[in-house]
Amino acid sequence: MRRYAVFGSPIAHSLSPFIHAAFARQTGIALEYVAIEAGHGDFAEKLAASGVDGANVTLPLKEDAFALCRSTSARAQRAGAVNTLLHEGDGWRGDNTDGLGLVRDLTERHGLDLRDRRVLLLGAGGAARGVAPALLDAGIHSLYIANRTAERADALADALGDPARVHPRGWDALSDLGEFDLLVNATAATRTGALPVLPMALVAPRSVAVDLNYGASAVAFLAWARAAGCAQALDGLGMLVEQAAESFSLWHGVRPETDAVYAALRARVE
Ligand code: ATR
Repeated sequence: MRRYAVFGSPIAHSLSPFIHAAFARQTGIALEYVAIEAGHGDFAEKLAASGVDGANVTLPLKEDAFALCRSTSARAQRAGAVNTLLHEGDGWRGDNTDGLGLVRDLTERHGLDLRDRRVLLLGAGGAARGVAPALLDAGIHSLYIANRTAERADALADALGDPARVHPRGWDALSDLGEFDLLVNATAATRTGALPVLPMALVAPRSVAVDLNYGASAVAFLAWARAAGCAQALDGLGMLVEQAAESFSLWHGVRPETDAVYAALRARVE
């Protein structure tokens, strides 16, 4: 039986084994998919020892995975991060399905048209880097990147290489930016502590807010988004299922249907 795993820390509550088991049942593919706890110090060793046919990589290992790959896809290079590993000879090829996962969730599940939209990306760490290229590819009008540490927003904007559309800002500039069609929380603030105060003026009645986190980690931002009057406030569960479906199809050559798995996950998380 082919064997797969997700590596990260903390990993015990990862939903990926549940998702991939459901996809495997649906497509009739026999596979095992487990969660393996690993950090910066022992990831490479644990990956090698696992003997897996493919792997997902989550926090805090996406940059580590990028660094250990023999080759990487264009979208992984633009993100500087890898969430999917495929065998290439006796080494690994890295891809990144996070951005596509977010865009598919927003456009196909939630029916949003991203073309020509003004988008605010909160955060400039690994999660933000993973989704920014796909948002640009979806044809948005502009991407404002606001980060507590302004230099990191500058570095992400430089890496994206699209100065006409990408505008890095420090957190203190948020009150001057006007309204956005889409607001994306890609900070770890709600996982590591409190969400900083965000100006209500960022929101218009048509605005959609999405948090890349889900469960307890998404509560604070989504509560703010509803209070500020967003038309929709979405968590990252749909993105999680869609990025998994894309990884699954890279490994197995079959694209699973995601709606039933999304509904099952929603029932588990709420
Ligand atoms: P991840 O892979 O989850 O993105 P990361 O690369 O460590 O993790 O990035 C965390 C992001 O959340 C960064 O944008 C970070 O801002 P800084 O670059 O200024 O550190 C942001 N973040 C974390 N805690 C925050 C807080 N309390 N307020 C605002 N931003 C925060």
